[in-house]
Amino acid sequence: MKKLVIRHSPPLSGEILISGSKNAALPILAGCLLCEDTIRLSNLPHLTDVRVICEILRSLGCVITRENKGTLLLDASSITRFAAPYGLAGKMRASFLIMGPMLARFGKIRLSLPGGCPIGSRPVNLHLKGFAALGAEISQGHGYVELSAPHLTGTRLYLDFPSVGATENILMASVLADGVTVIENAAAEPEIVDLASFLCSMGAQITGAGTDTIRIQGVPLLHGTDYAIIPDRIEAGSFMIAAAMTQGDVTLRGVICDHLKPVTAKLRESGVQVTDSDDSVRVRAAQTRRPLDIKTLPFPGFPTDLQAQMMALLSVTKGTSIITETIFENRFMHAAELARMGADIKIEGRTAIVEGQNTLTGSEVCATDLRAGASLVLAGLTAKGCTTVTGVHHIERGYENLDLKLRMLGADVEFSEIP
Ligand code: UD1
Repeated sequence: MKKLVIRHSPPLSGEILISGSKNAALPILAGCLLCEDTIRLSNLPHLTDVRVICEILRSLGCVITRENKGTLLLDASSITRFAAPYGLAGKMRASFLIMGPMLARFGKIRLSLPGGCPIGSRPVNLHLKGFAALGAEISQGHGYVELSAPHLTGTRLYLDFPSVGATENILMASVLADGVTVIENAAAEPEIVDLASFLCSMGAQITGAGTDTIRIQGVPLLHGTDYAIIPDRIEAGSFMIAAAMTQGDVTLRGVICDHLKPVTAKLRESGVQVTDSDDSVRVRAAQTRRPLDIKTLPFPGFPTDLQAQMMALLSVTKGTSIITETIFENRFMHAAELARMGADIKIEGRTAIVEGQNTLTGSEVCATDLRAGASLVLAGLTAKGCTTVTGVHHIERGYENLDLKLRMLGADVEFSEIP
């Protein structure tokens, strides 16, 4: 058991390299189940979630070898199991992403239903609606869901909500189906575009990824590929907010600036200087910042995965800010932890009203989920004194070497064992 110890930070300054995207890596790793040939994936982040999905793939019979840091070779030519153990699949919601590829290639898969999680109930009805529309039979019971289909047939389907996971799963299920599949009201997140590019590099025929209508012409077979994962826009956004919060001047390298537009726009609105060039972004803090109104929305709206970090920033931005969370039903758990540090946040349903303070004070706080954890670390950087964050396993799910990267920028952050 570890905790993160954070002491009041000088303005962050310097340059760091952003890691590969967790949320792009997970579906793409699952997508490796779609063909018999070996696939080389690079720019994979070294994270718990990535390790867990690799364990799940191994449990099915996929052979995974590490070529070097961030590069794996995946060989799914000898899949021998069509169910993943509950103990593994239950560790991570994204395990459900193996459903689409397994259904597409083998016509069968059995997996435990992902449960709720601290940020909301998170059902999978849209995933299942898509599989059923493609012709799969679905049976559920004893906490498991089982899919079977001798073959899948292309179809036109409308998602009631542009769910990222459902779009990814249906996309992967349909690439080998007979005929054309059209997904309407599809998610348009950059991770969907990356998944589609990866699948196309294997021979899939997909158009419209990144828009709300994706068209997939099924093909009989996919082949191996060599593919590099996009940079993590949420990691980059978190560091951009950290720079703004600590009065810093930070350059993030290896980013795709277009993916950062929502956070860039909000930081600029607050007065922070953000300059982007080809594959880097420089964030220079403002002496004083303006409060903001923020509403989380599907891409290209403001990402829910940066809402908690933004709340930490607005907790120390004079004036009244309003944050509305529209994606998840219960994603304000960090507010109570930030309040321990002196933040003034009132929650009314899905809206948080944040009265900015001059400063926060170091406290003992607990990360309740991944992004909540990041927001507490950022708050700790500006707080007076020492902050200790427990529940750091959540943070390690999604931030590669967070402590190291913060230290490279001048912060005093370290892991310490809990006796
Ligand atoms: C993905 C991201 C997560 C991000 C989220 C929203 C990964 C591994 N995770 O999660 O970091 O916060 O997108 O950008 O990429 N919903 C349904 N029925 C469904 C599916 C979803 O009602 O079948 C609802 C969810 O309960 C939630 C909303 O849709 O309220 C958004 O969920 P979704 O876009 O599916 O998020 P994930 O793919 O789980």
